[in-house]
Amino acid sequence: MTIRRICCIGAGYVGGPTMAVIADRCPDVQVIVVDLNDQRIAAWNDADLGRLPVYEPGLDAVVGRARGRNLFFSTDVDGAIGEADMVFISVNTPTKVKGLGAGQASDLRWVEACARQVAKAATGHTIVVEKSTLPVRTAEAIKTILEAAQDPPGNGDVPRTFSVLSNPEFLAEGTAIRDLETPDRVLIGGEDERSIQSLAAVYGQWVPDDRILRTNLWSSELSKLTANAFLAQRISSINSVAALCESTGADVREVARAIGTDSRIGPKFLQSGPGFGGSCFQKDILNLVYLCRHFGLPEVADYWESVVHLNTWQQHRISRLVVQRLFGTVTGKRLAILGFAFKADTNDTREAPAIRISRDLLEEGAQLAIHDPKVEPSQISRDLRLESVVPDPETGTTSQALSGQGSWWTAGSVEQAVAGADAVLILTEWTLYRHLDWKDLAQRMRRPAWVFDARSVVDRAEVQSAGLTYWRVGDGAQ
Ligand code: UDX
Ligand code: ADP
Repeated sequence: MTIRRICCIGAGYVGGPTMAVIADRCPDVQVIVVDLNDQRIAAWNDADLGRLPVYEPGLDAVVGRARGRNLFFSTDVDGAIGEADMVFISVNTPTKVKGLGAGQASDLRWVEACARQVAKAATGHTIVVEKSTLPVRTAEAIKTILEAAQDPPGNGDVPRTFSVLSNPEFLAEGTAIRDLETPDRVLIGGEDERSIQSLAAVYGQWVPDDRILRTNLWSSELSKLTANAFLAQRISSINSVAALCESTGADVREVARAIGTDSRIGPKFLQSGPGFGGSCFQKDILNLVYLCRHFGLPEVADYWESVVHLNTWQQHRISRLVVQRLFGTVTGKRLAILGFAFKADTNDTREAPAIRISRDLLEEGAQLAIHDPKVEPSQISRDLRLESVVPDPETGTTSQALSGQGSWWTAGSVEQAVAGADAVLILTEWTLYRHLDWKDLAQRMRRPAWVFDARSVVDRAEVQSAGLTYWRVGDGAQ
């Protein structure tokens, strides 16, 4: 079956870039991305490509080439499903906040709603592709819902039938376009050989066949969780060693280089920092933990859960350390937070380390001036569950300063953020922060002043020669 029309439900960080690249690489396939959120769809259709709802290097060029040609964004979910040969489900699956499995299991209400909508609106044979990160065996639930809606054999000329595939997404935000255009591998899980072939033929337009792996449904779903758990585990491992380096005089960068040259270990994902964030790592590990407990494997569950515990600990450790260095109190003190996104080159803040660290400091009564080149102030406000304040333009502080109540505001530039600050915390590795003029910034700060570099992006000698006290993660020399 040759695929001519694709519908993708969910125009988020996964659905948007993935479909843009498919449309770009397959000009003969019509791709419609649908979403219930009309503001999001309007932003994807914005004539100004600088205002797409997802910030991702190179995305504007890809959307610019394909949009209006064979790439469309719409809120007409049923219409797009009805016309499609293949429907991707790419909706959000956050961790459940209440009920059975709260705090660990994924909330599948949006996936289930999608399956029911596909069951209702599809025509002819439809291949349904699971693209969201889902717990193992979700495809079974989708299949059951769809099978209940299938036409019995012999019913009409073109009976409504379905087959379900799992096609996990391995793109990392910030490098999504590169990851989609030259993937290490594409994974397709399923039972129906013809459907697998149809999807493989779509990717085959730009991905070499030996990089398209075919597995059964459950292996495909479990591979996604396992890949993310392994990657996250490397980060917790190196962060645990960073803490030991700080106490013993070693340098975590040197240790990472030394172990990374062992070809069995490899150099990637050994960057110590403020812990991992993003929409996948924590959620996927907690999913794995839930599954293991469900299947009677508590030791395996505990093993993976410790990766998340170490990550949370690392974030609290950094905020504690800041308080301790600033003479045991940050109440009323001005701190500059540089970077709020969970990593550079994205406007995504889901599970960003900056959230937990900022909340800890607000709890201690700090006054935070937050700078990020791409994150909207309204997003920061939702993440901190606190409205911003307007500081006094003269003093750069607020009337709440000594009341003990923490407060925050956004700074339009790094210079504004550091004005009058006692300390700078670098929490995201934006390139901009690698080239700061520390002599100039130091003049704007209140002395004695500190730089806490949780991403190892600045030059120690430069900061120290500007008269600032420097701390960076995993450096035992300080
Ligand atoms: C991840 C997976 O990499 C991707 O394959 C999957 O599809 C989705 O989840 P993403 O979360 O977008 O992608 O970004 P990633 O580059 O993996 O970074 C995740 C977090 O780990 C970030 O907070 C990043 O700063 C942190 N990280 C990464 C480190 O702290 N150190 C490292 O060495 C690498
Ligand atoms: P991801 O990172 O997985 O792409 P996002 O939250 O960025 O997650 O995007 C998921 C999108 O899916 C959201 O824009 C949301 O509005 C959309 N969505 C959720 N449920 C449905 C549904 N039933 N029909 C259409 N769109 C949906």
